[in-house]
Amino acid sequence: MSSLFLVRLLLPLAALLLLLPAAGRAEDTSLYQRLGGEPAVRAVMGKTLATVAANPELNHTFKNVNLSRLADRITLFVCAHTGGGCVYQDDSIREIHAGLGITGHEFDAFVAILKSNLDAAGVGTREKGELLRLLAPMKQDIVAP
Ligand code: HEM
Repeated sequence: MSSLFLVRLLLPLAALLLLLPAAGRAEDTSLYQRLGGEPAVRAVMGKTLATVAANPELNHTFKNVNLSRLADRITLFVCAHTGGGCVYQDDSIREIHAGLGITGHEFDAFVAILKSNLDAAGVGTREKGELLRLLAPMKQDIVAP
């Protein structure tokens, strides 16, 4: 076996062995941690709720709502759904939003604002995609029939 052949075989193998632990670590880390954990999720959710609640076209459901408490609760909800280890014990997302009369447009606007706040906070494309893919199917439970 020529030494050139050995180098050609061993170099990619060595590179792979160096990269594997990093790939393993990324898989092991929960989405919640990768989003920045409690402070980062709380900040993005608080900002999103404040923006929606200040917009007369989107805020009809937020009139008598304590926004700070709601941001805490949604952060807990996100933590519970992204492997953060929190326990969110409450009604289902459908029951929570039942009767609020939320429209599809309001849901889409909420998600668009959340998306731009995730961008502004420097959240990575992968993490942003994972979170938005998790929230998107909830539309059918949040929007009024
Ligand atoms: C995927 C998107 C959404 C998620 C994950 C979400 C999650 C939640 C959660 C977990 C609560 C319960 C808070 C608690 O435990 O008390 C809540 C309440 C609430 N949500 Fe949402 N929500 C979403 C979208 C929306 C949208 C689009 C609107 C309106 C434009 C909205 C309006 C409200 C209001 C007004 C409450 C308070 C209800 C009350 O206290 O009676 N949500 N949401």
